[in-house]
Amino acid sequence: MFDFAVSPGQRYDDLAKALAAMLAGERDAIANMANAAALIWQYIPDLNWAGFYRVAGSELVLGPFQGKPACIRIAFGRGVCGTAASTGAVQCVADVHAFPGHIACDSASASELVVPVIWNGHVVAVLDLDSPLPGRFSQEDAEGCGRLVEILADGSNWDKH
Ligand code: SME
Repeated sequence: MFDFAVSPGQRYDDLAKALAAMLAGERDAIANMANAAALIWQYIPDLNWAGFYRVAGSELVLGPFQGKPACIRIAFGRGVCGTAASTGAVQCVADVHAFPGHIACDSASASELVVPVIWNGHVVAVLDLDSPLPGRFSQEDAEGCGRLVEILADGSNWDKH
């Protein structure tokens, strides 16, 4: 579908453009998360899981993703995803085994990046990326994924979800 250059900076520029094009004219948050997860899974290397958890009350519920089946509900404050949701801060974890309360959905995961999706000033979902490589995610990945979730947040209607 897309053929991207390989340098990480250029990759996120290209991904941002592709995501904006894919979301144009569609506001359904579930559909947009599904296409965003598929795009990320196809074009960000060395992932074993890529997807979303949606905020539902005081917990997170599994959303669209690519990879192995995963745990469905995560309480705010629990694990890497619950920490990102409760603090609103990006969690870039080089070694998941050293993260207190890490939830091991896939034993292959070694490092993890979780980026909150913020809409109207509050967290509505989190983007969760897992890698089998320790220390896989850099500041560039955190910033690049931050740009992607901004496009997703702005381009979707979160009222109904
Ligand atoms: N490892 C996550 C749970 C979700 S899975 O990685 C898909 C966590 O600790 O929150």
